[in-house]
Amino acid sequence: MVIKQAEFICSSTKIAQCPTDNLPEFAVIGRSNVGKSSLINALTNTKNLCKTSSTPGKTLLINHFLINKSWYLVDLPGYGFAKIPRRERAKIEAMFSSYILNRKELKKLFILIDSRHEPMNLDMIFIENIIDSNIPFAIVMTKCDKISTTVRNKNIALLQQKIREFAPATAIDIFPTSATNGFGTDVFLDYINSVLNSNN
Ligand code: GTP
Ligand code: MG
Repeated sequence: MVIKQAEFICSSTKIAQCPTDNLPEFAVIGRSNVGKSSLINALTNTKNLCKTSSTPGKTLLINHFLINKSWYLVDLPGYGFAKIPRRERAKIEAMFSSYILNRKELKKLFILIDSRHEPMNLDMIFIENIIDSNIPFAIVMTKCDKISTTVRNKNIALLQQKIREFAPATAIDIFPTSATNGFGTDVFLDYINSVLNSNN
């Protein structure tokens, strides 16, 4: 699939403020600074559609981007950023949890994981919660330009093994990507296209 048009539509703090046109949505979630906003820029071939930053905690709202006038990419705030005060963090987590659990238009949640690291507890807890809640999801490994194929594959295998420990029957789609050099974005966009063309 080729993205011909990408347009920022709105920032929301709750579902009631999100678009009401019933178009399908794909949202990105993951640790602060994992590369959620950068991935959206890479997919849409833009530099500044989404604001990115080397400092964690840049995205703090639910941001809707209309793609090819027919579906949305949704940028969410990150989790696990220790420097945001606890009360503020709880508010942000309640906001994205409510979106993830209740947004009917959400076709797939993409959980972004930094490909450079072995699986981290916070990510595993998040994935387990998503599986328990029956939210359709796939995993996107980010920043693959920063490591060798060997390390990347080792970390992907470890991640699959960890997920199997608590969800042996769940098949997981995992997409290695780089927002910096575009690696993996074509395959990932084709996956989105296949979800759009399926009936669920
Ligand atoms: P929050 O909104 O703060 O939760 O962060 P985020 O997950 O949206 O991360 P963001 O896209 O702002 O990127 C964080 C930092 O990682 C920025 O300095 C990006 O330039 C860098 N980055 C993101 N993706 C990649 C990538 O694929 N490769 C490399 N080398 N750097 C990346
Ligand atoms: Mg962001």
